[in-house]
Amino acid sequence: MPVDAATAGFPTHRPRRLRTTPAMRELVAETRVDVADLIAPLFVREAIDEPIEIRSLPDVYQDTLDSLRRRVARLAELGVKSVMLFGIPAEKDAIGSGAFDPDGIVQVALRQLRADLGDDLVLMADLCVDEYTDHGHCGIVRDGSVDNDATLEVYAKAAVAQADAGAHVVAPSGMMDGQVAAIRSALDQHGHPDVPILAYSAKYASGLYGPFRDAVDVEIAGGGDRKGYQQDPRNAREALVEVLADLEQGADMVMVKPALAYLDIIHEVRRHVDVPLAAYHVSGEYSMIKAAAANGWIDHDVVALEHLTSIKRAGADLVLTYLTGWFAERAAGKA
Ligand code: PBG
Repeated sequence: MPVDAATAGFPTHRPRRLRTTPAMRELVAETRVDVADLIAPLFVREAIDEPIEIRSLPDVYQDTLDSLRRRVARLAELGVKSVMLFGIPAEKDAIGSGAFDPDGIVQVALRQLRADLGDDLVLMADLCVDEYTDHGHCGIVRDGSVDNDATLEVYAKAAVAQADAGAHVVAPSGMMDGQVAAIRSALDQHGHPDVPILAYSAKYASGLYGPFRDAVDVEIAGGGDRKGYQQDPRNAREALVEVLADLEQGADMVMVKPALAYLDIIHEVRRHVDVPLAAYHVSGEYSMIKAAAANGWIDHDVVALEHLTSIKRAGADLVLTYLTGWFAERAAGKA
């Protein structure tokens, strides 16, 4: 006799039917992470002979020019489509000259990588001055705070220097008002109308950038912080104000940063804009996985994949992550 599901109280809908085997689960998966979605943040340091592992970022290095070329070549071989370059200059100064000097470390690296790889890979350059200033702020400091409009002039010069050196994309991360417009007009006036801007639009003043400051040897003078220009973590609507402003100024792609603690922001931005959306899985997010896994408290691979998947599920198209090399090697091994 057939059981009357309603009266017998049996569930009619049994979602577990679609979770029975790995093949079934693979078939119905809504979200996939592909190596082409990932952008590897990489660090190149001036005047060192050997790559230096970053203490708080296991498996991430301050590279020499040569070790950077080898690392990027390997990533390209594994199918990675993009890298984001950060520079650590030998000398820092008040205005961050290394960020726009044609012989600054990132510009030199860009020229070499562009010669090595041509257009096989999208070379992105982080556009900011905090790695290059002796006070560690993302701009020109006047009377104790960062002067927005004076900083825009420096960003404009840095954008042109990066594009001249071969950057395919420039990515302003300093959170100055009007930075996208200033950079767009500088690029257009200097023969780079085709270089897109990936704007770090909704960038929060987060405690999760701690290990990154080790990576680029930055300490903010006098124990300062970036709360005067980065967003307050309590604000969500403000993220849309920032994103829409950047799009109006000519941003080609936008970013939310950090990622995991801001999945609501990623989701909300995705609902409102149709340009490619990137999310930055930042240094602290990576370090937490590494540290907990090293203690045997979590399974590294499971959690790492869960982080990346969640960021995509929330609506990001692209993920900047220090896990890119790990993911790409693993994907190649499985193929
Ligand atoms: C600014 C910049 C920072 C990061 C990327 N670009 C540091 C900051 O804003 O304080 C952080 C990235 C990370 O934590 O992984 N140039």
